[in-house]
Amino acid sequence: MKITFIGGGNMANALIGGMLRHGFAAASITVVEPGGSARERLGAAHHVVCLGAASDLASVGDLLLLAVKPQQMREACAPLIGKLAAALVISIAAGLDLATLSRLLGGHRRIIRAMPNTPALIGAGMTGLCALPEVDVAGRAIADQALAAVGSTLWVDDEKQMDGVTALSGSGPAYVFLLIEALQEAAAQLGFTPEQGGQLAIETVAGAAALAARSTEPAAALRERVTSKGGTTEAALRVMMDAGVKEGVIAGVRAAEARSRELGKLLGE
Ligand SMILES: NC(=O)c1ccc[n+]([C@@H]2O[C@H](COP(=O)([O-])OP(=O)(O)OC[C@H]3O[C@@H](n4cnc5c(N)ncnc54)[C@H](OP(=O)(O)O)[C@@H]3O)[C@@H](O)[C@H]2O)c1
Repeated sequence: MKITFIGGGNMANALIGGMLRHGFAAASITVVEPGGSARERLGAAHHVVCLGAASDLASVGDLLLLAVKPQQMREACAPLIGKLAAALVISIAAGLDLATLSRLLGGHRRIIRAMPNTPALIGAGMTGLCALPEVDVAGRAIADQALAAVGSTLWVDDEKQMDGVTALSGSGPAYVFLLIEALQEAAAQLGFTPEQGGQLAIETVAGAAALAARSTEPAAALRERVTSKGGTTEAALRVMMDAGVKEGVIAGVRAAEARSRELGKLLGE
């Protein structure tokens, strides 16, 4: 399978690294990246073929990955029209919907939209995916294989749910960083050094997430199990619940989803 990346920035680097670790061949990957130093970095790190412009491509091959910023997409897609043939296209650009991508690619229809998140940069991402109806099961499997190289994948049938994916897993790392930040501030107030507070906060979040991932029980049941009557956890949770922590998180996610819808409309114009 011949693969072309348009854009060789942070996400492309993470994806290429992950794909190579998962059995894709470096010789099958070409990256179009206008930045000379970015091209040098890519070539040195991954031994892939790097080109400065899409006009140097004879064809995009079997799989095209669009990894430019949303506002760069129009310019990036223009030279690809007429070179796509039956290629499967995956866009990882936030907010650009399938109809807009198809329009920018001259009516091409074998398109998948993916929304990864920043932990993908270390292979621990969560990517939401959705496809135009013209993408068959084999096309979905290829996309799954490519994105699974940087973490977990989840397909949604209704593209509207990509705004929910954006609000939950796309912006989600920031919510977790906020929790870590709050735990670190509490640790400082309790007399711990920043290093000690960082270790206590981060290892707790990582451990609890790993435990929740392995458990078949809902998070609420896990929470109740560590909350003994009259104990320390109960004292903390009562104060947090009274402060509206849970409602605040839910309202925040809903605000992110609404903003994603608004931004998607603006990008589609
Ligand atoms: N980073 C994340 O965690 C994350 C998460 C979810 C989704 N995404 C999405 O992933 C996409 C890429 O993000 P990123 O963080 O990897 O951005 P990035 O580091 O800026 O990478 C984009 C690269 O594309 C290059 N480029 C610009 N115009 C081009 C063109 N016409 N043809 C080929 N290459 C071109 C850019 O070069 P210049 O720098 O010279 O412009 C840059 O090197 C974005 O659409 C973003 O929404 C990113």
